[in-house]
Amino acid sequence: MAKDLTGKKVAFLGAGKMGSIILQALLKNGLLSPKSTFATVAHEERAQALAAKLKVKVGTNNVEAARDADIIVIGVKQQVVEDVIREIKGHITAKPLIVSVAASVPTSMIENNLSGNVPVVRAMPNTPCQLGAGMTAISKGKYASAEDIAMTCHMFDVVGRTVVVDEKHMDAVTALSASGPAYIYIILESLAEAGVKVGLPRDVATLLAAQTALGAARVVLETGDHPALLKDAVTTPAGCTIDAIMELEEGKLRVTLIKAVVKAAQRAKELAFG
Ligand SMILES: NC(=O)c1ccc[n+]([C@@H]2O[C@H](COP(=O)([O-])OP(=O)(O)OC[C@H]3O[C@@H](n4cnc5c(N)ncnc54)[C@H](OP(=O)(O)O)[C@@H]3O)[C@@H](O)[C@H]2O)c1
Repeated sequence: MAKDLTGKKVAFLGAGKMGSIILQALLKNGLLSPKSTFATVAHEERAQALAAKLKVKVGTNNVEAARDADIIVIGVKQQVVEDVIREIKGHITAKPLIVSVAASVPTSMIENNLSGNVPVVRAMPNTPCQLGAGMTAISKGKYASAEDIAMTCHMFDVVGRTVVVDEKHMDAVTALSASGPAYIYIILESLAEAGVKVGLPRDVATLLAAQTALGAARVVLETGDHPALLKDAVTTPAGCTIDAIMELEEGKLRVTLIKAVVKAAQRAKELAFG
């Protein structure tokens, strides 16, 4: 399969929060044509609302959407994936590329529920994909080719950055970058609260906190410098920052963040389906 979505029929089974973020971005960037895109949801009224919003065919019939599709994106909740795969089994022609964004669902579970060597790719995006600032890790199943991976990267590159990892790392990815926005929002909320405590208006405090996080993240990504070196550059001897760092160390910020990610990764493993 060439790395080109032109003319490809794409079915989005489960166009909820994550599915519709990806679908919307692909349509907006012209990678998908509305004519060859078909999405599904569980509720008829949501199907109608989404169809009106995105100007694509949206229904509740997975078989109808998946039939003839070249690419099938699975965007339903983890516990529904197996039912949806069994539902479409026997109705998909040729060998479509299946791209699943479901956390804790191994590619083998999907492969084992389909007959033939259907290529399956697992993708783990995050919610900042809605602004093109997402992070998506991608891993290949047993039958997926290098072209399938390239095609999946091409789809997710429009919503941010992509990285290809071995599937054994997917629970760690889920814990770090998929759940990660929640941790960062708590940090931003706390920094804004701190700004209020030291006398700033809340909107100014939130702006300062969020733009500072964005700026620091960009410096890490664009210079490739180690975060510890960048931190040292902000820390003047006997200045203010070192006093703040002492408080962070005493409050065990580092170990708390490490333990949070470890817990989330363990939970992702516990929730594994199949
Ligand atoms: N949210 C995230 O940050 C995030 C990040 C990475 C990966 N994911 C993965 O993305 C998947 C979906 O998560 P989400 O947060 O987007 O959940 P969500 O908003 O609840 O989306 C699930 C969608 O599936 C639809 N649906 C339910 N049963 C269906 C069926 N049998 N056939 C077709 N559609 C059906 C629902 O329809 P209705 O709208 O009609 O109820 C809904 O639109 C999960 O597997 C999750 O692990 C999510």
